[in-house]
Amino acid sequence: MAELSSLDGKFITFLFSLDPALRSRAQREAAILSEKERTLLLSLRRYDLAHSIRVARRVENNPSLKKAALLHDVGKRSPYLKRRHRALYTLIELASPSMLKRIIDKVTDWSEGEDLESRLAIIREPWRRALLVQARHGELGGLLLKRAGTEKDVVSLVSNHQWPPGPGDSLALMLWKADKSV
Ligand SMILES: [Fe+2]
Ligand SMILES: [Fe+2]
Repeated sequence: MAELSSLDGKFITFLFSLDPALRSRAQREAAILSEKERTLLLSLRRYDLAHSIRVARRVENNPSLKKAALLHDVGKRSPYLKRRHRALYTLIELASPSMLKRIIDKVTDWSEGEDLESRLAIIREPWRRALLVQARHGELGGLLLKRAGTEKDVVSLVSNHQWPPGPGDSLALMLWKADKSV
């Protein structure tokens, strides 16, 4: 089962996502972003927006890290990732994180070394496309941010946020821990 602290964190995020003032809070947090980055952040679904704000509030006050924390999940705004797919993914994550890891590894194997966006365009089954987006949303977010002109260090943090950081990569480690906790 998922760790209790992580479940608590997700539940609080869910409650926060119901806050009617969420969008105006997000606007204030987004003051450090460029216009294009702000548009990406504000296009997230309410839960992801609430999660991103909470992650950004938990990391140290470093400009690149704050930006990466706010933007780390923008890859999830893909139209291929529907609400029902997200619900299924969350259920598997809560029931068995190890099973989810095996599924993600398998999905990642299908598409290793290929251009992710071209791959997504040719997959026919919606569930398979959604799984690929979920499994590699960090990389997709990195592509969106690169096009938006975001700084390289922020793009790198976002692109790699789904994988445990290497030793000595303190910013990535802070992002990793904050992301897992909420
Ligand atoms: Fe993520
Ligand atoms: Fe996240």
